[in-house]
Amino acid sequence: MKIIAVANQKGGVGKTTTAVNLGSALAELGQRILLVDLDPQANATSSFGLQGVDETSLYEALLGEASITEKILPTRRERLFIVPADIDLAGAEVEIARMPNHLTRLAETLKPLLADDTFDFVFIDCPPSLGILMSNALAAADELLTPIQCEYFALEGLVKIVRLVEQVRDSGANKRLEIGGIVMTMFDGRTNLSAQVVADVREHFGERVYETVIPRSVRLSERALAREFIQRHTPPATALE
Ligand SMILES: Nc1ncnc2c1ncn2[C@@H]1O[C@H](COP(=O)(O)OP(=O)(O)O)[C@@H](O)[C@H]1O
Ligand SMILES: [Mg+2]
Repeated sequence: MKIIAVANQKGGVGKTTTAVNLGSALAELGQRILLVDLDPQANATSSFGLQGVDETSLYEALLGEASITEKILPTRRERLFIVPADIDLAGAEVEIARMPNHLTRLAETLKPLLADDTFDFVFIDCPPSLGILMSNALAAADELLTPIQCEYFALEGLVKIVRLVEQVRDSGANKRLEIGGIVMTMFDGRTNLSAQVVADVREHFGERVYETVIPRSVRLSERALAREFIQRHTPPATALE
C-alpha cells in the first residue's frame, strides 16, 4: 500500500478533482483505492454525496478516538472507498496542535491500513493551506502528488511546496517523503501561457512532471494519467543495472 498526499497550498488548482478522478480511474483499472478527505470543506466527500452519512468522518479517528477502519464508506464505484471529511476537521486542527505528536497524528491514524492490506493506494485530499492538517498529510505520505494549474506563478507555488517537503524530511517526521509527481491541470491549448508554464515547470522538475497534462475538460486525460501512474508504480520485472 502506498500513501499519496495530493497537495498544493493553493486552492482551486485541481487537488480534489485529481484525487477523485484519478482514484476512480485507478479503481476502474482494478486497483483498490481509499480516498481520505482531509479538507474540512469536504469537496471530495460531497462529490460522492456522502456528506453527513451516519456521522462518519475522519475526525474521531484523527484524534485517536476511533479506528479509521470504522470510518470507511463504500462509494458507488467498485474498489473505491472514502473516509469522509466534515467541518469538525477545522476544529481538529486546533486540538491536534495541543497534542505532543501533532505532526504524526494522521500517520498513526493510517497505520491499521498498512497492517491489513486492503488497499493498493491511499490518496489524501489535502486542504489548501500550509497548516497542521497538510503537514500531517506530508508526514504520513510515501509521496506527494502535486497538481499545478497552468497559470502565472505556478513555479513560485511549487518552490514553497518543495521547501515544505524538505522541512518535513529534515524534521525527522517523515524521512521517506518525496515529490512523486507533478500534474499540470487546466491546460488551455488556445493560449501560449499554458504551454509556456508547462515548459517552465518541466525545465525545473524534469521527470517528476507527468507527461499527461489535464486540459480544461477532464475525463479522458484522467484515465491516461491513471495508466501512467500505474506504470510509474510498477517495479521493473528484472532489475536494471
Ligand atoms: N481540468 C479541469 N478543467 C476544468 N475545470 C476544472 C478542472 N479541474 C478542476 N476544475 C474545477 O475547478 C474547481 C477547483 O477544482 P478542485 O479540484 O476543487 O481544486 P482544489 O481541490 O485544488 O481546490 C472546481 O470547480 C473543479 O470542478
Ligand atoms: Mg479541494
